[in-house]
Amino acid sequence: MKQTLRLAPSILSADFSRLGEEVRAIDEAGADLIHIDVMDGHFVPNLTLGPAVVHALRPHTAKLFDVHLMIAPADPFIEAFAKAGADIITVHPESGPHLHRTIQTIKGLGKKAGIALNPATPLSVIDDLLGDIDLALVMSVNPGFGGQSFIESQLAKIKALRNMIDASGRVIDLEVDGGINVETAPRAILAGADMLVAGTAAFKGGAAHYAANLAALRG
Ligand code: DX5
Ligand code: ZN
Repeated sequence: MKQTLRLAPSILSADFSRLGEEVRAIDEAGADLIHIDVMDGHFVPNLTLGPAVVHALRPHTAKLFDVHLMIAPADPFIEAFAKAGADIITVHPESGPHLHRTIQTIKGLGKKAGIALNPATPLSVIDDLLGDIDLALVMSVNPGFGGQSFIESQLAKIKALRNMIDASGRVIDLEVDGGINVETAPRAILAGADMLVAGTAAFKGGAAHYAANLAALRG
């Protein structure tokens, strides 16, 4: 069952020297969730932020924190992100040996659990976990950096995932992350996405432009 489109701006593209203000501005501009990209310089070739920053940002918005963990191992840090204020915690299957256990850990902390699929990661990874997850994220770039180009081959994966979710009859968000802009957003939505992450396209031009940026992505 397809839901209304929700936008999750990624603060990776915000001004890191003023993150609290940036989160408030993008909230007021109409963000549905706040996407927080956590990178460890090991699972992906970039370093961003940890639970202390998530905790510091928590008072700045009531919107859900959509925390995308690009770290390996992820398990030792899940509780810290949950306590810091994450609402949805998404992990990559490659980040640990026991994906089902990792998902149960997230759920056990009372949080929504997601699985992120890299461009080369097959959809079949989630076959046996459809009953356990709240969100499936298709990476339309290789994780690690904002500002990359949308990988076209992922449209077929989004379509297949939409069919898989609808056939399951379960409520699972289908999120697409990477290279989303006014040209790619409608194509991802047409393929079946109901949640879009946007970094560059959401935060371009500074706070005065955020509302227009988000409105343009909604089409
Ligand atoms: C990439 C991150 C994305 C990224 C998206 O590793 O997971 O969330 O910030 O940035 P854009 O929208 O610029 O591709
Ligand atoms: Zn992300």
